[in-house]
Amino acid sequence: MSKSHFLIVIGLLVSLMACTNGSHTNKVTQWKSYSGDPDIEHKVDSVLRLMTLDEKIGQMNQYSGNFAATGEVNDNKSGEYLKKGMIGSTFNTFGADHIRMLQEQNLKYSRLKIPILFAADVIHGLETTFPIPLAEACSWDLDLMEKSARIAAEEATASGIAWNFAPMVDIARDPRWGRVMEGAGEDVYYGSLVARARVRGFQGINSYKDFAKPNTLMACTKHFVAYGAAQAGRDYHSVDISNRTLYETYLPPFKATVDEGVASFMTAFNDLNGVPCTGNKYIFTDILRDAWGFGGMVVTDYTAITEMIDHGYAANLKQAAKLSIDAGIDMDMISEGFVTYLKELVKEGKVSEKQIDVAVARILEMKFLLGLFDDPYRYCNAERQKEVVMHPDHLKAAREGAQRSIVLLKNDNNILPLKKDIVKRVALIGPFVEERESLNGEWAIKGDRNKSVTLMEGLREKYANSAVKFTYAQGTTLPAIDNATRHISETQIPDKSGFANAVGLAKKSDIILVAMGEKFHWSGEAACRTDITLPGNQRELLKELKKTGKPIVLVLFNGRPLDLSWESENVDVIVEAWYPGTMSGLAVADVLAGDYNPSAKLVLTFPRNVGQIPIFYNTKNTGRPFDENSPKDYKSSYIDSPNSPLFPFGYGLSYTTFEYSNPTISSVEMARGGNVIVSADVTNTGEVAGEEVVQLYIHDKVGSVTRPVKELKGFKKIHLEKGETKTVEFTIDEDLLSMYDIDMNWLAESGDFEVWIATSSSDESNHLEFTLLD
Ligand code: NOJ
Repeated sequence: MSKSHFLIVIGLLVSLMACTNGSHTNKVTQWKSYSGDPDIEHKVDSVLRLMTLDEKIGQMNQYSGNFAATGEVNDNKSGEYLKKGMIGSTFNTFGADHIRMLQEQNLKYSRLKIPILFAADVIHGLETTFPIPLAEACSWDLDLMEKSARIAAEEATASGIAWNFAPMVDIARDPRWGRVMEGAGEDVYYGSLVARARVRGFQGINSYKDFAKPNTLMACTKHFVAYGAAQAGRDYHSVDISNRTLYETYLPPFKATVDEGVASFMTAFNDLNGVPCTGNKYIFTDILRDAWGFGGMVVTDYTAITEMIDHGYAANLKQAAKLSIDAGIDMDMISEGFVTYLKELVKEGKVSEKQIDVAVARILEMKFLLGLFDDPYRYCNAERQKEVVMHPDHLKAAREGAQRSIVLLKNDNNILPLKKDIVKRVALIGPFVEERESLNGEWAIKGDRNKSVTLMEGLREKYANSAVKFTYAQGTTLPAIDNATRHISETQIPDKSGFANAVGLAKKSDIILVAMGEKFHWSGEAACRTDITLPGNQRELLKELKKTGKPIVLVLFNGRPLDLSWESENVDVIVEAWYPGTMSGLAVADVLAGDYNPSAKLVLTFPRNVGQIPIFYNTKNTGRPFDENSPKDYKSSYIDSPNSPLFPFGYGLSYTTFEYSNPTISSVEMARGGNVIVSADVTNTGEVAGEEVVQLYIHDKVGSVTRPVKELKGFKKIHLEKGETKTVEFTIDEDLLSMYDIDMNWLAESGDFEVWIATSSSDESNHLEFTLLD
């Protein structure tokens, strides 16, 4: 069906309903809309009136993949649903032309010609792939994250996609959990700001009216809620946390995205305190809808309705479907629980048609706002797709984004940067020197893994015609995961046959540059580990290389904090590159050569060993805090490991050094409704220009409930020329001091507060104090 024919049909129907009803208030259903716009609500209502119960339920049904791959509707089940107008949305199909063809089929076959909403997981870029979200968060550069999300949206919206299953805003404090790679790390304050930046970037709107532009992408905050607290870091595992922890730690980034205007939410797979999130009325109705006033739509995660049976919360799919709609869920991803049972449930009086109307209204509203009723093909612009996908400006941004995400963890004797004009023989060793497939990391949905630049390619380009000469040996391989068993493959355990050659080259070099890490599918969904050391025999190879006595630079490619206890003691330099995306090799070479001075800092603690997990900086003090200066018995400590992490939150080095001095506070007393201003001077005391992330931490010394030893409450990323000093200032007001008191009221309690202006969460050198008066 052509666009004009479609418009005539829909236009006539909508205006017909407008005439017959005459009033905006006499609606089929009353619901709190996302836009609050009576005209949009009226249009939604008009369409709702035309729909049969089957068609309504069909809108609540989401499929994955191609229901008509051959160009005509197949006689499969989804094809049949399509003919009945019973597919509201599909996901992870791509391409302007392909999606146009699917939409055409929908308009041709379905009675009411309601456009399908095409969705996808565009997590860190569409084709131009940016660093994994965890890495990007280490940039502490909100503009950068907003920009990469915008670029992802530009590429996705030209390729047929109107709805994105991102951002993932789950606070995560367990590096065993593979999905830490998708989020912004462990901190609530910072995670909330990143969540907002990503929603701004994807949606690109100032008001709901902007959704009608062809390059705006509806974002989806996921996974509601507390998915990151999965027991023992095992994916999909149960979550049992106090209501206080839920409110203090896990809810805030979600709330932040509601404040930013996010238009949709996704459920989490886990059960929360005994109730699976997908059937959890408390979180979806009481908190999200009633307390936060969210008017957008909610989709389940993949088969999450069905999974309530395995959770032991529903006896069958019919009951699960009822639990889910009762909880406030609008769309069923894959389970077919709604499409199979809602009609029956309505007939039996167990679900009301009003509940269905409300869910459908929310879905239709988004289709109206996205302009799909005006032009169902508005996201299918093959020309624009050709023009924008992998545009040189996008690649440039991806390279900058990768540079700014790389964390320098150790740099003894200033071995880096590796200057181009100083004669050096460098032995390149390790499975990641030429690894290409992994560089995009997981969830690089359409990122062509063959197009990513390897480290070898980046170095060859950077050091062409320079005094630096490379030799290369792979040394060992990366162990694989057996797809059939989802376990580390028994048949592909790396051997040591490559060690001798690698050690031989190392002996003839001045520096050994080792590139190691995890294969990309070792993190991400369902990719959890109990041992977070370098996989396979990579550490063993490092031990052999160490015996040569040559300096070792270790560059890491991985999707989670690793246990680097041996490496941090024994190699000279550690560069945490994560998975940098399409421009990987070039960006890493920029950093190694000093063309970009690293400025990233960790947003997730690196433990010394898995036994310390969960370990995060804003822990409680306990009644027996351990004091390293006077260790005594019966203090809160281990007998076989320090309490402190290997690398703390907020930590990262630069090729220059920064000195903090002159901490000042405007007043040692703060009146209610007032504020205090704290500041410190930061000086670049090294030899090159650089950027520093200056962090503000606050400790509420006594509370009606115990408070963390410190909490991040501000940061500024500043650029300093060599020798330059800047005064960095933060304003502290009541809002920044607020907490949930013993009765769960959000307020600031009077009393004493400590403040640190710091280079990382473990830096306590610039300390201030003040009192909040009654
Ligand atoms: C399951 C994942 O948990 C979710 O994040 C993703 O959006 C869906 N699959 C769809 O791919």
